[in-house]
Amino acid sequence: MGKTIRFGVSLDSDLLHKFDKLCDDRSYQTRSEAIRDLIRKALVEREWEDAEGELAGTLTLVYDHHSSGLTQKLTEIQHDAHDVIQTTMHIHLDHHNCLEVIVLKGDAVTIKNLGQKLISTKGVKHGELALTTTGKDLI
Ligand code: NI
Repeated sequence: MGKTIRFGVSLDSDLLHKFDKLCDDRSYQTRSEAIRDLIRKALVEREWEDAEGELAGTLTLVYDHHSSGLTQKLTEIQHDAHDVIQTTMHIHLDHHNCLEVIVLKGDAVTIKNLGQKLISTKGVKHGELALTTTGKDLI
């Protein structure tokens, strides 16, 4: 961790006012902490764009388990990517619908491909891949 450096930021007063409101809404104690989080967010997003190296993330799927062959298909896809799947949680939402949360960690390209494959499987009603960082390169 490097030393703390202060720097000035020039902003339009209306923009600053909106930013202060955002800081307040999100319970930031100081503008500095809010700006640090915004910078970290941008760095994490760039990590996703680069899509190389190691990433972590969660994949959420909602599907009807009565859908023909769907459960088996999803299981097969997951077995093919067992090396990046850390754990899965399955919740029976109602008589038809299942919610599955898959926690992932590993090669970025493999994770993105797996997410796309599962989300695009016929019968999946909703799917969302939320990528995050492993935290190793963030301060
Ligand atoms: Ni279920």
